[in-house]
Amino acid sequence: MNFKKTIKEIVINNHFFLSIISLIYSLPSRLRIKGWCKNDILINGAFLKQTKIEFKGKNNILLIAPENRLTNCKIRIIGNNCKIKIEKHCKLTNLELWAEDDKSEIKIGFRTTIEGGHLASTEGHLIKIGADCMFSHAVIIRNGDSHSIFNELTNQRINFAQDVHICNHVWLGEGVKVLKGSMVEEGAIVATGAIVSGKVDKNSIFAGIPAKIVKDNIRWRRERKMPDDITHTI
Ligand SMILES: CC(C)(COP(=O)(O)OP(=O)(O)OC[C@H]1O[C@@H](n2cnc3c(N)ncnc32)[C@H](O)[C@@H]1OP(=O)(O)O)[C@@H](O)C(=O)NCCC(=O)NCCS
Repeated sequence: MNFKKTIKEIVINNHFFLSIISLIYSLPSRLRIKGWCKNDILINGAFLKQTKIEFKGKNNILLIAPENRLTNCKIRIIGNNCKIKIEKHCKLTNLELWAEDDKSEIKIGFRTTIEGGHLASTEGHLIKIGADCMFSHAVIIRNGDSHSIFNELTNQRINFAQDVHICNHVWLGEGVKVLKGSMVEEGAIVATGAIVSGKVDKNSIFAGIPAKIVKDNIRWRRERKMPDDITHTI
């Protein structure tokens, strides 16, 4: 058996080893955590490289589950009672995660991978990303507009934040933007450069601005090679 693989298995299956090794690996990032007092940071067993964490406010929670890998990420919580939760086995690179205001939340599901981008949660709303999602570079997801718009006759605000929900096994192509109130259903693909501001149907491909359906009844896999039981038709 491969020596490197055996060591890796021992570390992963032993919580104590995992905590120590991840602590040593993540030490330079941990030393850069700003404003941690009055906030809860649970990052034991996660591997952080060149990652910056900053808090302004209190009662915020940052939970990065064990066996996650974050490289060159910036996590910024500015507000109170906000929560960022990253479930196990995610791989996040070049990503900014922002939670601002009161009770804003970001949740990223098990085994999701993100190559880069910006996720911004504001006004006490949620960005929920399911398990096994695959996001490319420069993906932007926001559940609010960061500034207010009013009707000039009634003086009422017209652009409140709304939750964004991305279900399990969703593929967002390079440069995709997902705006407030959007829902991307399970198994869907959003094509490169698209802007989603509404619903993307299950097992379909949406493309363009605003994103519209271009194909339905599709399935996707991370592997380029097709399994033998799937017929090739060209
Ligand atoms: C989503 C994607 C994978 C779909 O590929 P596909 O199933 O082969 O789709 P097709 O090329 O057959 O395109 C289907 C239709 O959608 C249109 N379309 C595809 N991508 C589009 C895009 N990004 N914007 C606008 N229209 C697009 C095509 O013009 C075509 O329209 P038509 O039927 O009128 O001719 C592909 O379009 C894409 O975005 N690839 C890049 C993925 C990426 O970012 N990878 C980075 C690593 S994760």
